[in-house]
Amino acid sequence: MNTPWLKNTEETYYPPLKEDLNADVCVVGGGITGITTAYLLQEAGRRVILLEANKIATGVTGHTSGHLTSFLDAHYHNVISSFGELKAIQLLYATLLARETVEFLMANNAIVADYERVPAYYYATNDDQVNHLKKERNAMDQLGAITKDADLTDIPFKCKKAFRIDNQATLNAAGFVKGLTKAFVEKGGQIFEQTRVVNFKEEGEQIRVKTEEGSSVKAKYIVQATHIPINENPLQLELKNHNSYVMAGESGEDVAKGLFYDFAEPYHYTRNYEENGKSMFIVGGFDQKTGEKLSDQNQMDKLRNFALENLNIKEMNYSWCSTLFTSPDGLPLIGKDPIHKNSFIATGFAGDGLTYSIISAILNTALITKGSHNWEELFDPKRLSPSTLKTAVNKGVTTIKHLVADKFGISETTTDDMKPNSAKVIHKDGENVAVYKDENGELHTVSALCTHMGCVVHFNNVAKTWDCGCHGSRFGIDGKVLAGPATEKLESINIFKEQ
Ligand code: FES
Repeated sequence: MNTPWLKNTEETYYPPLKEDLNADVCVVGGGITGITTAYLLQEAGRRVILLEANKIATGVTGHTSGHLTSFLDAHYHNVISSFGELKAIQLLYATLLARETVEFLMANNAIVADYERVPAYYYATNDDQVNHLKKERNAMDQLGAITKDADLTDIPFKCKKAFRIDNQATLNAAGFVKGLTKAFVEKGGQIFEQTRVVNFKEEGEQIRVKTEEGSSVKAKYIVQATHIPINENPLQLELKNHNSYVMAGESGEDVAKGLFYDFAEPYHYTRNYEENGKSMFIVGGFDQKTGEKLSDQNQMDKLRNFALENLNIKEMNYSWCSTLFTSPDGLPLIGKDPIHKNSFIATGFAGDGLTYSIISAILNTALITKGSHNWEELFDPKRLSPSTLKTAVNKGVTTIKHLVADKFGISETTTDDMKPNSAKVIHKDGENVAVYKDENGELHTVSALCTHMGCVVHFNNVAKTWDCGCHGSRFGIDGKVLAGPATEKLESINIFKEQ
């Protein structure tokens, strides 16, 4: 599962953490949220250590589609009715500052990362979508955004109506992060890769952040830039998770540059970029719940058909999928962790990961260094409590029911009928076993019980990962954690031990 960003940026090499160190702030997660936060904290005079479980920018950041825009999944007309006009204005201006901040950081550190200002378009393909589009344009006008009628010939899809806003941006997020990583280290920051954090605990006024290998960082603050909080946190149970599917391919003709979104459910998102002088499209959508029993390949096939029918694409060069988390009210949860003291979180970015990652870096840096920020209330994770805690407990029960239902639902007991490059979950010798048969016929077996709360994992045949539908954890075929909230690998199981 390759992406243009991972293919076209250099791999980073930082050592794993092998000793106990001290810092002012420990940032967990080396994606765009973590690196930008670490950089801004360091610029504010803090000693920062960043820990990354795998390699810098190879997780969600390496799998984005690279949209940096004020168009948000939450839709401003919904934000106005749920949060009021003033908060919606704050939200809109936060997105503008996110773009300005990226430009400032790139200019100050000589980062290129394929950044380009382009227009963004909303387009509607049927009457329902036209109504939705009008509502959203009215809301954006009410907030002071400059919207314009769009020339429909600029949209690469047949549509009935469209509008645009200018000065949005496309970005190679992995390239941006690697450039900022270099600047952070040159200015004295410390990064440790292949260093998975398994938990953190208060020790007096400090926090000890423990890694899988037993080393630790003791710091005054921790920032969990991990896509979803780690440690036990009921907010994990409140976030909805989805896998979104993306493809990139060469366009058969020169196309107008832009970001394009419809109002389908789930919506389609499209942008273009250049690779080796060729005009390319990136198109995504067909989201479904992570770990869904429906085939991921099925969603990818639908996306391919959509792209081939609507865009003049010669061939698909890349395909990938990424997990998104969405909060119950549609806005992200950024700021003080309501459960753990001196901990800060940044999660629930939905499909607006790049924009909210920069917003979260600005906000969490201000909360740590100044104690407040005028966006604090808008994104405050505490706004979901205390009902969240109550709901979370109920969801915990649902999760356990799901687990039990799933366990009883496993009727497969044999691997004899498996073809190469296939997977299934079987029940054998009292164990639920996740089995993957590779191209050479070799079986790879691990426990099928997610190490977060014990749900049964399902195979994602696009990404070749074991995905947990309960709260979105993802694991490699060797059981290694690829995405949290789980922090421990799936247990190794040898089902053939007595043969
Ligand atoms: Fe929570 Fe698997 S049980 S992510």
